Amino acid sequence: MTRILGIETSCDETSAAVLEGSDDDVTMRSLVILSQDVHKVFGGVVPEIASRAHLTSIAPVVTKAITEAGMSLDDLDAIAVTNAPGLVGALLVGVSYGKALAFSRGIPLLGIHHMEGHLFSAALEHRDAVPPFTALLISGGHTLLLDVEAWGRYRLLGATRDDAAGEAFDKVAKLLGLPYPGGRHIEELARSGDPAKFRFGRPMLRKNSTPDDAEHYAFSFSGLKTAVLNAVKASPDIDADKAGIARGFQDALIETLVTKTRRAAAAFGRQRVVIGGGVACNRTLALAMREALEVDGAVVFTPSPRLATDNAAMIARAAFFRYELGERAGLDLGAYATRPIPGLEAA
Ligand code: KG4
Ligand code: ZN
Repeated sequence: MTRILGIETSCDETSAAVLEGSDDDVTMRSLVILSQDVHKVFGGVVPEIASRAHLTSIAPVVTKAITEAGMSLDDLDAIAVTNAPGLVGALLVGVSYGKALAFSRGIPLLGIHHMEGHLFSAALEHRDAVPPFTALLISGGHTLLLDVEAWGRYRLLGATRDDAAGEAFDKVAKLLGLPYPGGRHIEELARSGDPAKFRFGRPMLRKNSTPDDAEHYAFSFSGLKTAVLNAVKASPDIDADKAGIARGFQDALIETLVTKTRRAAAAFGRQRVVIGGGVACNRTLALAMREALEVDGAVVFTPSPRLATDNAAMIARAAFFRYELGERAGLDLGAYATRPIPGLEAA
């Protein structure tokens, strides 16, 4: 039985979690997430403020996670910390804390890629959310479509050419005067929107419909964002049109994500689809994905909202896989703003 403490500080959540188990049989014993509300007034994350807030919270958050797991530092076998990608100053807080803790206890340290964490988050709750599967990772910073043959073997099929899916939600929310982060607010507003009033083009769907097309699995959301901006500017009564615009935007984005994921699952003969990242909180998307993939006989796994958005449990979960492979980081472990997921192969 292995016990791993996970630490996540890549953006604006300070999080720690303790997981216990072996192989694909891992139980979450505790999870503490402290979200930094301070960024709301700026309409986006301010890196320097994020680092300072992590510094203030990291020690109590880690202590709370260990206490809630009913353990002490002596019970831990390893420390896993997100070391890429993310805000470097924010990552450094978690990385430094993790290093100090591992060094002082004489236990192994592991550096985990944040997006690999998102890939593992559905597996925390669903026993069958294990490879082989098609994965769609949709967060504030990334949009990745992957074929996952086994843990650690990731074939990149498509990514976004410009804005990430979550970023598109946040930017459109800003255009509509909604709070940051805006994904949740767009989804809520879209519920009361007329689906026929604003129909935006589906980005990169028509032109790239054959598998030999280089952009068959690629995404692009900046054109859709511009279309929304034009609709906002042209509206004579934005309060009356707001919900319809949110609905039109979300429908277009969802149809693109669903179509490309369905293409990938069919092309690789996958019976399982795993969604991860903050945008996986979107229930309208999950429903549309389930309906479409069900027709093909595939099952869709989504993490619950607490595990879909940034958290340390997914980091510790990914670390179980890497720990059992024998991977260990040195005390020279660095923090990186961008870095490919380990085990990533180009399509
Ligand atoms: O994974 P995450 O917590 O942080 C990053 O690693 O970026 O994702 C945050 C993103 C934000 O862009 C937020 O607007 C989006 O997830 N999000 C949603 C919903 N809930 C959160 N997007 C659409 N619908 C939602 N219900
Ligand atoms: Zn994330």
